[in-house]
Amino acid sequence: MKQPLVIAPSILSADFARLGQDTRAALDAGADWVHFDVMDNHYVPNLTIGPLVCKALRDFGITAPIDVHLMIEPVDRIIPEFAEAGASIISIHPETTRHLDRSLSLIRECGCQAGIVFNPATPLEALEWVIDKIDLVLLMSVNPGFGGQKFIPSAIPKLRQARRIIDDSELEIRLEIDGGVKPDNAAEIIAAGADTLVAGSAIFGAQDYAAVIRALRGERPT
Ligand code: DX5
Ligand code: ZN
Repeated sequence: MKQPLVIAPSILSADFARLGQDTRAALDAGADWVHFDVMDNHYVPNLTIGPLVCKALRDFGITAPIDVHLMIEPVDRIIPEFAEAGASIISIHPETTRHLDRSLSLIRECGCQAGIVFNPATPLEALEWVIDKIDLVLLMSVNPGFGGQKFIPSAIPKLRQARRIIDDSELEIRLEIDGGVKPDNAAEIIAAGADTLVAGSAIFGAQDYAAVIRALRGERPT
């Protein structure tokens, strides 16, 4: 069953010199989660932030769920560090660990919710075998590595496929989409089955965060 819509701004597009304030501004503007993109210049061609920054946001007073998207390999060493730093959800790409089942179990053992991420050209195959070990499925609608890329349309039928698998499982699993999400494609994305929208450049690139968040939810401008 589909859960209430969650908007998760990707802080990759936030102002890093004022990260705490900018993150708080997005939450005050109506966002639900903080999407936290971790890149290692190895699995993806970009380098971003680690557990230290996650902890800094917690120390700054951010209490919303922090949705950590790991684009690094390997993952097992860093998972406990992120749990310790205040992560709520930790998602991993299957190809970044030799033992997916073990890594997903480790996330839950550390007290976080576990997510599995599929790149645009990666089939949903592994999902069937770990569905009892996850709380979230994240579909990439761009190739991971950068904010501000264009939405890849094949993510729409893939969302429908993932929605069917999740519904058939009767488990409480969120379906999140990440990459190129904007007010003008959000309705189609939600109709295809997504219940959690990541948006980086669409929110942080705008003057009025609240207006974009309302538009992503399909609410009319006030
Ligand atoms: C890409 C990241 C995304 C990215 C989304 O690798 O996983 O979270 O920040 O940015 P937009 O919304 O600008 O496509
Ligand atoms: Zn992401």
